[in-house]
Amino acid sequence: MNITASKLTSLFQEAFNSTETPLIVRSPGRVNIIGEHTDYNEGFVLPAAIDKAAYIAMSLREDDEIHLMAQDLNERFTIRLNELKPIGDVSWPNYILGAAAQFQHVSATQLKGFNALLTSDVPIGAGLSSSAAVECATVFALNTLLSTDIDRVSMVKMAQKAEHEYAGVLCGIMDQFASMMGKKDHVIQLDCRSLDYTYVPFQLEGIKVVLLNTNVKHSLASSEYNTRRQECNEAVSIIQQHISSVQSLRDVTEAMLNQYVQNDHPLVYQRSLFIVQEIQRLQDACIDLREGNLSALGKKMYATHHGLSTMYDVSCKELDWLIQFVAGREEVIGARMMGGGFGGCTINLVKEDDIDLLLKEIVPAYEAATDLPLSYYIASIENGTEIVQH
Ligand code: GLA
Repeated sequence: MNITASKLTSLFQEAFNSTETPLIVRSPGRVNIIGEHTDYNEGFVLPAAIDKAAYIAMSLREDDEIHLMAQDLNERFTIRLNELKPIGDVSWPNYILGAAAQFQHVSATQLKGFNALLTSDVPIGAGLSSSAAVECATVFALNTLLSTDIDRVSMVKMAQKAEHEYAGVLCGIMDQFASMMGKKDHVIQLDCRSLDYTYVPFQLEGIKVVLLNTNVKHSLASSEYNTRRQECNEAVSIIQQHISSVQSLRDVTEAMLNQYVQNDHPLVYQRSLFIVQEIQRLQDACIDLREGNLSALGKKMYATHHGLSTMYDVSCKELDWLIQFVAGREEVIGARMMGGGFGGCTINLVKEDDIDLLLKEIVPAYEAATDLPLSYYIASIENGTEIVQH
């Protein structure tokens, strides 16, 4: 992002009529190579933090008030600590307030009033986790200013709870984990059951991660997302009646689904079959990645898209259009829709030398087919949440 610490400092000082030098924390958006909707089923994911990020400039106040400013929207919001609760339609304060509220549960610490200025270049509603970026930045900033000394993985969980409690999306742990724990030029192979993780090098010779943004805002996303979670839970409850050791779809095999779910619950079967296959697909894809077999990895990305679109039903016609356009093109190694779904971006692994040509063809073709603009970003993989100025 083209904003310096000194520029942010002066925006902060102007916004809050202050001479203080604020703490500045940067927390990025994320991509996910493969493993979609697997996190809340205790499976695996393969995300990475990117070069688009939210920045929070913050300082503590003497009183019990929270004063917020969203620089990009030129909007302000104020609330007292003892009134802290999710607010109606205005969305952005919820991510900061939800994160702050988590500190009310940290024993031996008292949440204090604070001023915070937010700016971000993570596109909103693009499936790049703009909200997780804000939540992680806020938790990290407060942890620093309140000297609470909370470890990173616990901060990830606090940021996830902020999303549950203040945004009403019962998200898994992937987005916040990637934002907080990202490592430059590496993807994170995360086991969402144990939270064990390994960093897998991701510097593909001559290949770049290209994100194509449908510009369809994922408005259905939160309600449908929660419905998908329920459908997965239903599959687990049905199987548990026969096999009590099953805790999540992580423990389920295709044979169990065929035996206990397929006949009586066709929709639940379809959803959970996708998840069981996707959990396996990610593990196989990690082997491809370690072996440098990119064409095998790419094929799995296309298979993931097919499953998300036809079995899990979280795609939309614009996402499908983009995948159809690139599928079969030699310069696109793999592609699929990314994130929760119903809009947002596709992730494409594209040969670097051919990116310009691809964009030249796909941008006007998409606009002609959908009447929507196509935005694109070439993402680089960066570190997770970090202090920019203290
Ligand atoms: C959203 C959620 C994540 C994850 C993805 C789908 O981004 O926040 O937890 O479930 O959707 O993989």
